[in-house]
Amino acid sequence: MSTLAIVGTQWGDEGKGKIVDILSEKADYIVRFQGGNNAGHTVVIDGTKYILHLLPSGILHNDKKCVLGNGMVIDLEGLLNEIEFIKRVGIPVEGRIFVSERAHLILPYHKELDAASEKIKGNGSIGTTLKGIGPAYRDKAGRVGIRIADLRDEETFKEKLKWNIMEKELTLKNVYNYDVNFNFDEIYSHIMRIYEKVSHFISDTVSLLNKAIDSGENILFEGAQATLLDIDIGTYPYVTSSNSSALGISAGTGISPKKVEKIYGIAKAYTTRVGGGPFPTELKCNVGELLRARGHEYGSTTGRPRRCGWLDLFALRFSKLVNDLDGLIITKLDVLDAFDEINVCVGYELNGEMIDHFPSTAKELSAVKPIYETLPGWKKETTHIKRFEDLPEEAQNFLKFIEDYLETPIPMVSTGPQRDEIINCCEIW
Ligand code: GDP
Ligand code: IMO
Ligand code: MG
Repeated sequence: MSTLAIVGTQWGDEGKGKIVDILSEKADYIVRFQGGNNAGHTVVIDGTKYILHLLPSGILHNDKKCVLGNGMVIDLEGLLNEIEFIKRVGIPVEGRIFVSERAHLILPYHKELDAASEKIKGNGSIGTTLKGIGPAYRDKAGRVGIRIADLRDEETFKEKLKWNIMEKELTLKNVYNYDVNFNFDEIYSHIMRIYEKVSHFISDTVSLLNKAIDSGENILFEGAQATLLDIDIGTYPYVTSSNSSALGISAGTGISPKKVEKIYGIAKAYTTRVGGGPFPTELKCNVGELLRARGHEYGSTTGRPRRCGWLDLFALRFSKLVNDLDGLIITKLDVLDAFDEINVCVGYELNGEMIDHFPSTAKELSAVKPIYETLPGWKKETTHIKRFEDLPEEAQNFLKFIEDYLETPIPMVSTGPQRDEIINCCEIW
């Protein structure tokens, strides 16, 4: 048996889709454990781009099984659309997709609440994806959420849906001053129509995954979002509403933490963030614009321009700590091919003094001054290079600098969006 996890170490969009697709080759199961269709994971195969929101990135390998774990929040219509899309491109889905009956549903009122709560916050808004993620997790934690298993029983689903519609209408009207009425019959029949089409994909994934592990199969866990967006240890409140670091794997799958063997992080060779919140190394200048242009930094889910900045090793050291990473995969090295010099942040100064820990409040993190080390650029194309030794010396030194600072190996370096634009430095599994 072998279990391996891939998690983002920055603020998302590190290239998890591409790396999970490559590592799926050796996996039997690829498993999402948190989040929902706020994720946008891109895989490019032979020039065709696939963006996955709910289905694990292993779905593009015809013979792999894909699991949507109990820790996820699922928009059934989004799920059906994605399954239909995969079928349309000629990839088989029957017998390959397993959706946890314990996962929570995202319902229309969650999206309304997401929008209302963002609007009322004005300039302080989080910049969510407006997919209803936060309100769905709020219901889960508040023990009023509706789980997929509830759809099996007409009476239970009707009762819970009625109560939720009543509660959400009151909240939207009285707290947010939104005049909205949800049509119970319409929502009920819409959800049931979709449920009929996807019900054969729904199962007890906790038993399924534990059995798979016991019988020696290889499991690949695919994180969505990233460590700095984790609800507990990310840059709260500018985070998502799930445990999007490796800390969420166990709770989101029903697999004991003792059974997660290897955890690898992914980081871009620079940093991006989409939405609000502190970002110490952000570049609001033409250097940031060059990073955005070269990296095509626009959201895979919302199309919003991503904020861009230099690599933040101080933040990555914190991500390494909380995930206890076995290594860090670096993506988008090629984006830096055009720079004369490259800055990397090696520490933070707060109120004139160097600090030794990653700040826990957004206010403190907004006030830090990043301390940079400047490394020479390489000004050569890296995209088609297949071996570490063939990279320009400056690029090798940049990667070695990261390894030394973080005291962790870099097992893979990605130099382009395509499957084969990858340098394998050592075995991952
Ligand atoms: P994810 O959410 O972590 O899966 O990442 P996204 O798919 O949202 O964003 C990563 C983007 O970078 C996608 O458009 C990928 O096709 C692209 N990408 C991935 N790796 C590389 C790379 O090494 N170089 C370049 N230039 N693009 C990459
Ligand atoms: P992948 O998996 C980047 C960000 C949103 C917002 C915050 C909360 O593709 O890396 P939410 O809708 O989750 O309540 O929004 O989190 N966010 C992401 N940023 N990549 C993602 O996913 C993201 N999913 C959510 O922009 O700032
Ligand atoms: Mg993404």
